[in-house]
Amino acid sequence: MAATRRHSVVKAVVPVAGLGTRFLPATKATPREMLPVVDKPAIQYVVEEAVAAGLTDVLMVTGRNKNNLENHFDRNWELEASLEAKGDDVRLSRVRESAVLADIHYTRQGDPRGLGHAVLCAARHVGNEPFAVLLGDDLIDERDPLLETMLDVQERHGGSVIALMEVPPDQISLYGCAAGEATGEQGVVRVHDLVEKPSVEEAPSNLAIIGRYVLSPAVFDVLRETPPGRGGEIQLTDALRTLAASDELGPVHGVVFTGRRYDTGDRLDYLKTVVRLASEREDLGPDFRTFLREHVAEMPAELSAESKVGNA
Ligand code: UTP
Repeated sequence: MAATRRHSVVKAVVPVAGLGTRFLPATKATPREMLPVVDKPAIQYVVEEAVAAGLTDVLMVTGRNKNNLENHFDRNWELEASLEAKGDDVRLSRVRESAVLADIHYTRQGDPRGLGHAVLCAARHVGNEPFAVLLGDDLIDERDPLLETMLDVQERHGGSVIALMEVPPDQISLYGCAAGEATGEQGVVRVHDLVEKPSVEEAPSNLAIIGRYVLSPAVFDVLRETPPGRGGEIQLTDALRTLAASDELGPVHGVVFTGRRYDTGDRLDYLKTVVRLASEREDLGPDFRTFLREHVAEMPAELSAESKVGNA
């Protein structure tokens, strides 16, 4: 997959060490990011996105159960030999694809002490250069490139850049929230405050932080000094607030994304993502859409009106 444009940032960090408790028991022995979205694990979409933006050096911050991940991005000679013998070239190339996508490295987080702590585990690999962070919770449609815009903004302004999305006010407590002012550049704000998962009353805006960041290496020193915050975890949002408030370590800009984003963070959003992406697929889409229409039409009215799926 060729990048459309090169930026000076080449390293991407992908934290995959969370416990994924919302998907238990599926995530008991496998990272949440390995759950399939149609026929690829969510993490592969994320690595493809990084590579498309020119980030070919990918560091995964792993926890327990890293074997599945490593195996997915490695060659599988037995499987390849078997597909080759059958002459199944299509599946063969799909199996090989993930092993040659990027230059993938791994480091361990040990204790999952929060997203900020996971990012700090990347300090040695990243060194003293800006880098991107991509979370597997969010899949960004390849037709609406976000990361490249963020890399452009970082190149123009320096400092750090976060991705934001407007959400209905009653949903802001599910996200980190950023307050900023317009910069005169379409869709770019200068961020001056951030709060992790605020209540509706506390929220300084309806701009939610989504899972893409381009960070200054100054974040590492700040993370070392950041105490555990919400949920007893070391929060990346808290470190970003320090960066945003500092003349020396900032600025922090936000790119307000209006494109297609698919959430895989909890069960209901994950199901919606799979249905959306499967419906759009050229191979599966036509049959799947027919099935969906029939299924919905046959659904008893009382079932459609029943109480919502538990989504805690
Ligand atoms: P989440 O808090 O959404 O993921 O972290 P989680 O902890 O796996 O999910 P639940 O709430 O228990 O279901 C956002 C991202 O940060 C990573 C996760 O893997 C996820 O991609 N993460 C989180 C880490 O790598 N380490 C951590 O200590 C925490």
